[in-house]
Amino acid sequence: MAKHIHHNLEFLAAVIIFVLIPPLKAKSEQGKSPPYLKFAFNATEFPSEDYYDYVIIGGGTAGCPLAATLSTNFRVLVIERGGVPYGRPNLMSRDGFLASLTEVDNLDSPAQAFTSEEGVANARGRVLGGSSAINAGFYSRGDPEFFQNSGVSWDLSIVNQSFEWVERAIVFRPDLRNWQSAFRDGLLEAGVAPYNGFSLEHKIGTKIGGTTFDNYGRRHSAADLLNYAKASNIKVALHGTVERILVASASATSLSSKSAVGVVYRDQLGGFHHAMVREKGEVIVSAGAIGSPQLLLLSGIGPRPYLSSWGIPVVHHSPYVGQFLYDNPRNGISIVPPFPLEHSLIQVVGITNAGAYLEAASTVIPFAYPARSVFIRTPSPPLYLTVASLMEKISGPLSVGSLRLASIDIRANPVVRFNYFTNPVDLDRCIAGMRKIAGILSGRSMDYFKFTDMGGRRDFRFVGPALPVYSSDDILMADFCRHTVNTIWHYHGGCIVGKVVNHDFRVIGMDALRIVDGSTFNISPGTNPQATLMMLGRYLGLKIIKERL
Ligand SMILES: Cc1cc2nc3c(=O)[nH]c(=O)nc-3n(C[C@H](O)[C@H](O)[C@H](O)COP(=O)(O)OP(=O)(O)OC[C@H]3O[C@@H](n4cnc5c(N)ncnc54)[C@H](O)[C@@H]3O)c2cc1C
Ligand SMILES: *[C@@H]1O[C@H](CO)[C@@H](O)[C@H](O)[C@H]1NC(C)=O
Ligand SMILES: *[C@@H]1O[C@H](CO)[C@@H](O)[C@H](O)[C@H]1NC(C)=O
Repeated sequence: MAKHIHHNLEFLAAVIIFVLIPPLKAKSEQGKSPPYLKFAFNATEFPSEDYYDYVIIGGGTAGCPLAATLSTNFRVLVIERGGVPYGRPNLMSRDGFLASLTEVDNLDSPAQAFTSEEGVANARGRVLGGSSAINAGFYSRGDPEFFQNSGVSWDLSIVNQSFEWVERAIVFRPDLRNWQSAFRDGLLEAGVAPYNGFSLEHKIGTKIGGTTFDNYGRRHSAADLLNYAKASNIKVALHGTVERILVASASATSLSSKSAVGVVYRDQLGGFHHAMVREKGEVIVSAGAIGSPQLLLLSGIGPRPYLSSWGIPVVHHSPYVGQFLYDNPRNGISIVPPFPLEHSLIQVVGITNAGAYLEAASTVIPFAYPARSVFIRTPSPPLYLTVASLMEKISGPLSVGSLRLASIDIRANPVVRFNYFTNPVDLDRCIAGMRKIAGILSGRSMDYFKFTDMGGRRDFRFVGPALPVYSSDDILMADFCRHTVNTIWHYHGGCIVGKVVNHDFRVIGMDALRIVDGSTFNISPGTNPQATLMMLGRYLGLKIIKERL
């Protein structure tokens, strides 16, 4: 008996230690610098000419896992125009999401703002880890339709291994609090069934997805995947902007084609560097759906007449560079709840069979916050306001946009147009999604978030437009979709498979040049894209190693 008690005390002590130690350990881990810093240097420190097996343009969501994988067998250089996310508190935490996204845009800010011709404000990562270092962290594997319809004959067992490789390093199961739990219940009340619990798969129903924020709210991103690299084989040039891909034509071995031989990049002091590829090596463009088509065009790889109109010498006529650019529209509503809520980014999602995909977030806005807070009236002004949102994005989309140059300066955003809802199917999907949100709002779980007015009536306090009262009216709902369109930042395309690159992600008609990132996607992976993009980087790296060895 005494022994039994003793054991119980030991158990209790173990529990107490278990509960107390992790935060302390976490604190010290926060101070520990990531291993990738050992091979990441300011571009100014690089020689004016150097040779590598693989030169990867852009240390982003796909570029980092690709580089880490190739480094196990080859000499790799990553050239990234931004710095490291490590050491930037807003960037490195879930609660800093909005602050880093809205930080005043200068050449150094990790989120580069851009606005489409439709007037929708958007953002692109400019930091190691790319857009995975500024995003909302939701992690979910691409759906089966993506693997069937993306124009690539995927080896699904390597796809799975690649997802697992990513997940082991940077994917966590989130803790749900008030708003996300209420959203989960609301989805089920509105018939978004079955409930699939926690799952990394994209399947119809309501689920809790993975997240790249750990349980202390700290961000993990594709930059962390560089920690898998073989340090002696890899270098990362930070604050280095690639200005041009260098191409040589017709060697003795491949008479008909042109071959990428290296790149020119520029450091912060304006110095030029050449990074050249060795025999059998390649240049791989991973600059994202905005950066990759832009860099190809500026390198003379694109539609001949268009390049000529800019006076850019044509290196390779590739008629679809910059075409087939897509952005999934986001629409939704926001409310101020009658009591403060926690901060939460996307954890629970609803996947309908009508092409709509539902998400929720709650944002704590300090009262002094510059944007939008001053005109929100609350009963007694609190120091912090919460804004809770329900939103939907559509799958696809089918509406097609395009990209063109605004300048021959690579640092300037190109001009993009997404043509939201020009395909009527997209509009139908949005209407279906917004109706689901109306359904959620009328459910029991959401009642809790209403205010009671002096006459005893209960209603939501909306921030921004409320849904039409008659959500069964197609015309009113279509107007709502068009007038409140926003982005969910899942833009993709511009160098799509089948038009600009082939099923091996090689630029059609050229040697030693591939594009590996979201610009190659002709469809979105159903869910949020980061999981599929990280998988893609790992997958292509494994495939290239297999090809060469
Ligand atoms: C605000 C926001 C929230 C999001 N939320 C989510 C989410 O919760 N879940 C999810 O799955 N997805 C989310 N996404 C989408 C997802 O993050 C992106 O689709 C994905 O990261 C894109 O990956 P990529 O490899 O194609 O490009 P990126 O990750 O953007 O990588 C491109 C890299 O190339 C660099 N680069 C570009 N041009 C040059 C050049 N000329 N020279 C050198 N370097 C260059 C850039 O600095 C960047 O690091 C979000 C995106 C944003 C912006
Ligand atoms: C990179 O090096 C140059 C030259 O020393 C310096 O001016 C610049 O500030 C450095 N950049 C960073 C981010 O350290
Ligand atoms: C890949 O993983 C999915 C989801 O776990 C599974 O359904 C599928 O059978 C796996 N495919 C292969 C080829 O391993």
